[in-house]
Amino acid sequence: MNQLMACEKQRPLQQFRKILLAGLLIASIPAHAQEKSGWIDLEKQDSAALFGEKCGMCHKAGGMGTTILSRRLQGEQALLENRLDLKAEYITAVVRGGFGVMYPISRGEVSDEQLVKIQQHLVKE
Ligand code: HEC
Repeated sequence: MNQLMACEKQRPLQQFRKILLAGLLIASIPAHAQEKSGWIDLEKQDSAALFGEKCGMCHKAGGMGTTILSRRLQGEQALLENRLDLKAEYITAVVRGGFGVMYPISRGEVSDEQLVKIQQHLVKE
């Protein structure tokens, strides 16, 4: 009997915890993702947006990767998105194995599916 009463007492607190957790989950969704498409759907994640998210901080204009690549590549060719010579296998080798000062990027950071999409964005036929 005493145990049952103790359970009854805990219930409101548990419910409150559930509500709090749900609130935290919603609050943790990045604001930009909410603006763009509501919920994040990895299946439908756009390849250009993925490149921007995973590689852009270094490979967009002004990024560290672009700056370093511009030492040996002329002008606009320092931007990966402008390159005509990038092949899928080469991108995989660089991303998974690292290249010069670019550290290897694990599957935890960029999944194989996401890497394929990024390659589709960068490889021009
Ligand atoms: C932390 C910064 C950083 C991130 C993030 C990054 N890179 Fe790089 N990347 C570099 C740098 C710096 C170089 C040039 C390294 C060098 O020349 O020593 C480079 C070089 C490369 C090259 C070689 C280009 C060539 O001409 O040989 C490829 C391909 C590449 N990155 C692809 C990617 C892709 C795809 C992503 C995202 C999945 C990515 N990088 C994310 C910094 C980064």
